[in-house]
Amino acid sequence: MCGIMGYVGKRNALPIVIDGLKKLEYRGYDSAGVALLAENGIFLAKKAGRVAELEQHVQGSAFAKASADKSVSDIPKGNLAIAHTRWATHGKPTDINAHPHSDCKKEIFIVHNGIIENHQELKEALQREGHIFSSETDSEVIAHLIERQLIMENKISLEDAVTEALGHVTGTFGVAVISKKDGQKIVAARRGSPLILGVGDGEYVLASDASAIVGVTKQAVYLHDNELVSVSPDGFHIFNLSKKPLEKNIQTIEWDTESAQKGGFSHFMKKEIFEQPETLKNSLRGRLMEDGFAKLGGLEDVKERFLSSKQISIIACGTSYYAGMLGKYFFEEIAGIPVSVERASEFRYRNPVMGPDYTAIFISQSGETADTIHALREAKKRGALTLGIVNVVGSTLARESDAGVYNHAGPEIGVASTKAFLSQIGVLMLIALFLKKKNGASSTNGLDMVHEFKALPSKMEKILKRDSEIKSLAQKYLSYSNFAFIGRKYQFPVALEGALKLKEIAYRYAEGYAAGELKHGPLALIDGNMPVIALAVKDSIYEKVISNIEEVKARGGKVIAIASESDKRIGAIADDVIFIPESLEMLSPMLSVIPLQLFAYHTAALLGLDVDKPRNLAKSVTVE
Ligand code: G6P
Repeated sequence: MCGIMGYVGKRNALPIVIDGLKKLEYRGYDSAGVALLAENGIFLAKKAGRVAELEQHVQGSAFAKASADKSVSDIPKGNLAIAHTRWATHGKPTDINAHPHSDCKKEIFIVHNGIIENHQELKEALQREGHIFSSETDSEVIAHLIERQLIMENKISLEDAVTEALGHVTGTFGVAVISKKDGQKIVAARRGSPLILGVGDGEYVLASDASAIVGVTKQAVYLHDNELVSVSPDGFHIFNLSKKPLEKNIQTIEWDTESAQKGGFSHFMKKEIFEQPETLKNSLRGRLMEDGFAKLGGLEDVKERFLSSKQISIIACGTSYYAGMLGKYFFEEIAGIPVSVERASEFRYRNPVMGPDYTAIFISQSGETADTIHALREAKKRGALTLGIVNVVGSTLARESDAGVYNHAGPEIGVASTKAFLSQIGVLMLIALFLKKKNGASSTNGLDMVHEFKALPSKMEKILKRDSEIKSLAQKYLSYSNFAFIGRKYQFPVALEGALKLKEIAYRYAEGYAAGELKHGPLALIDGNMPVIALAVKDSIYEKVISNIEEVKARGGKVIAIASESDKRIGAIADDVIFIPESLEMLSPMLSVIPLQLFAYHTAALLGLDVDKPRNLAKSVTVE
């Protein structure tokens, strides 16, 4: 996820902002950059790759310049700088796409986190007015919008120009702006992306999270959405985006750097589980239309071919494969196109029937999983249209597939996938709604879907509030070493994912099963020593799942049910129940998976295991 850093004060800003960027590295990024207001103008450096490379580049270019000038005084110095680590969403991770971005005259420099939904139309309008763009990013429009504002209104302040410019923007931003002409200040604002102002002794830092601030000061002001701060060596002023001055309290940051990076959570995995309401919003932003269809820019070029596919194959590994299983249900239900789902490691070595009238969709958080990449190449050889659902922009899978959709989940650091899974489900549903245009016969009401998608983040928050209840359950079942997870229809892939989570991080043997299949084998395993986690939400197959739970109970099994809040019966049947809000059947996996993630998390944490880096596993499996 992108990171913002800014400094204004009495010290040399460059080492401070570079050090701040290093503290933000844990967020994940692919390029970095800095703009320093030096004595002889703006010093700009941008580099794809690590912050260390940017640092070397800054020193290298300074020394090169210094030796050419035969003077060492040219090493950039200045008391004001903005810097950025970019995690690509629009445009590849290249030097040019790295932030800061500037206006046409290279007088205004901005760093931005978030997504500008209407960047395409803004860019086209600005280009018609003569603005020249240098990058492929959505962020650059902000610099040109500010420039336009300053040109249109002669004596306007930088604060007002930024406010007016942001008024044209739909989407999310944390943004910091400097201007050559207004050289003493940084103007920053936020909507949807965090921004904190650190208040030191005659010096100020701005950053996306506290970890980059605590090295300079522990005193901070947290900006809220639609607030703007103007900060100079003389102090700071905060306004809302209607230009009304605001009084804000200075708070003390209690965290050290490490806990600040985890946002106060004990592990990245827990942080990522708790980020999911926001993840869902980010994945859908600007894509789900109010009429119940989806707009997916990444698929526009291949739309005709995709819509006329005879068959779709979804191919992936691990958690991404389970998301793919849900994709099959969505596509067949909503678009009426036959879909097969397959593990990449199997697909690549058999002789699959696939030709030019097939679409093969590859799902991968990292975009670097070797099995998935080889399967993609295999599908290409057979002439299929290849699409990627990928979280990491510019990854191998994103580059090699014909077209695709990015998850916009932000970097996932915990090895066990959580928020990426949720975003994959969201994107698969969007693709189903995109395909729905073809087939008017679907009974799925897109408007209900839009309504429910809007309600989901607060329903997720409600489940997250049950965290300590789920921790107590994990404690209660801590001594058991074998578990079964059962579910049917939309809850079957969730059962598989719940079992995978427990295996991955708690090293418990866990079997995910289609509840209707229990009687064909696994029922023989059931006794009081193998708790069964049953997904029993109120959906079209609820009664059948209850019968399966009864089968378990009749064999002396212990049952933990994940059930709908309105369910009055379940308490009498199951040993323990975690209640979750009701949802549309198709979207309910996004809710029911959360208690399973938390159950696995707490089991592992209570056992004192390395939750974020489980033994024998890797986040990105780039070998066969
Ligand atoms: C590894 C990870 C899993 C992940 C799988 C697929 O095994 O540990 O969490 O689900 O790879 O990764 P991908 O990046 O392709 O989604």
